[in-house]
Amino acid sequence: MPLTCGKCRSANVEVQIPYARMSLCSKCFVDFYLARVKKTVEEFKMFPENARVGVAVSGGKDSAALLHALRRVYPDLKLVALHINLGIPGYSDHCQVKVEKLVDILNVELNVFNLQEELGIKIGDFKKTSFKNKLCSVCGTIKRRIFEEMAVKAKVQVLATGHNLEDVAGVMFNNFLYGRWDQLARLKPVLPPLAEGMASKVKPLIRSPENENLLYCLYEDIPFREIDCPFSKRTGVRKRTEILEAIAKHNPYFKHQLLNRFLEIIPLLENVSPKPPLGRCKVCGFPSSSEICAFCKRTSLIKRLDKA
Ligand code: AMP
Ligand code: FES
Ligand code: ZN
Repeated sequence: MPLTCGKCRSANVEVQIPYARMSLCSKCFVDFYLARVKKTVEEFKMFPENARVGVAVSGGKDSAALLHALRRVYPDLKLVALHINLGIPGYSDHCQVKVEKLVDILNVELNVFNLQEELGIKIGDFKKTSFKNKLCSVCGTIKRRIFEEMAVKAKVQVLATGHNLEDVAGVMFNNFLYGRWDQLARLKPVLPPLAEGMASKVKPLIRSPENENLLYCLYEDIPFREIDCPFSKRTGVRKRTEILEAIAKHNPYFKHQLLNRFLEIIPLLENVSPKPPLGRCKVCGFPSSSEICAFCKRTSLIKRLDKA
């Protein structure tokens, strides 16, 4: 006989949540998922209910689940979806279509930044530069800058991204192993604005495991991309994930524990090595810790190629 849900005690069990020792039906799983998003937003005081919140939606399952969940948990919240079309052949347009479908379902405003149209560059252009083996990293730098600009333009006080438990715990773990303390601290659930008039950055899915974001999308019929980025090798990420998963097999609560301990030590790290005050980039005027910001350094490589 099929087991019945541990919460409602009527429907059949569909989802096992080993770290919480729960067996849930699909409806109770969705309630459980949404309750955790709400609790995370409140725990870290991510935004007040009257805020205007921008959500960076890539077309992937995590940020799709995030936008959908925020709409469900906070029906009156002013939400704006922000999407960057990176100009990756066979991939970026597919992602944008999924995002457009999602905002249509949710009736949420969408702002799209098309890298090629607005800046005249594509991520693939970096294949011709010293970043040819680091396309994902250069892509990350460019996205982070554009999010900031899109947030200001959309007049949102808060920018939410879909980073999940594994993303954050995994990268924190890696930064810990290499002693990159400042980068570890950058993964905090809430980052204050870089300067006045800019948005704070929040990660409401920091406690949500990747597979639960996927399940939420499947149960709620949420459109998300079906193909992977052709540039993403993610070998380092895969290795790290494998290590975390191997330990999690023996201790299902491991990833949550790791995250909790990191969250405890981050304030201590910040006291040990306080951040130097940010200056302004000499080229674009954006807040930066170096004379020329990482975005200008990278995009100037492409502009130089064009001129050559
Ligand atoms: P990633 O760095 O690809 O793991 O993505 C982390 C988060 O950044 C996602 O969950 C999204 O919130 C956001 N993001 C990544 N790529 C895009 C994109 N092209 N457009 C909008 N948001 C994005
Ligand atoms: Fe940035 Fe693939 S999405 S390199
Ligand atoms: Zn700059």
